[in-house]
Amino acid sequence: MIVVNFKTYENSTGEKARELGKSCAKVSENCSTDIIAVPQFQDISLLEDLDIKVFAQHIDPVEPGSHTGSILPEDVMSAGASGTLINHSEKRLEPGVIEATVDKAREKGLTSIVCAQNPEECAEFSEFEPDYIAYEPPELIGSDTSVSSAKPGLIKKAVKRSGKVPTLTGAGIKSEEDVSKSLELGCEGVLVASGVVKSGNPVEELRELCRGYNE
Ligand code: G3P
Repeated sequence: MIVVNFKTYENSTGEKARELGKSCAKVSENCSTDIIAVPQFQDISLLEDLDIKVFAQHIDPVEPGSHTGSILPEDVMSAGASGTLINHSEKRLEPGVIEATVDKAREKGLTSIVCAQNPEECAEFSEFEPDYIAYEPPELIGSDTSVSSAKPGLIKKAVKRSGKVPTLTGAGIKSEEDVSKSLELGCEGVLVASGVVKSGNPVEELRELCRGYNE
């Protein structure tokens, strides 16, 4: 799977989130793996009619009630999300909160992707039994150096330490080779943001990433 994190870039906000969602849907027609769009909460419903899976960037482990400012799982679901990132490097949570959020996602039927900064965290978070763990070294996020070229040994370790939980990797992923290398090292997919969002031609960039699945 190719998970496209829209983050909060100008290029992926509001109407532009919809345009990027359309690019994801277009490329996914001829891609042999799922492309998952991860827009900001308020943009989830803008992608609702597109033939593509949409995940939230975060949820809070709360029930409907008095939780001002929280992200209610039911609400992202009714907007059209079928999964969520948890503990992204840019939205870190305490381990107890990560566990409660994974439990809440499971209870509500949302696919969970828990982000981890190193193989040790992969091992720790695998105990919570999320659907996926995503290994992303924070220093390479948004950089021109991909995790697959700079840290192949750590990707292998992350896969091993995630145990039975399927592993994704991300940070600096931009090319077909980055994807094929990640798969070769044992990952089930990649997380990407700037490589697609800031590329100027998301359709071409997404096609390039999909080719990594065909090698
Ligand atoms: O969630 C994906 C992300 O953190 C990786 O970002 O910009 O390095 O592809 P980027």
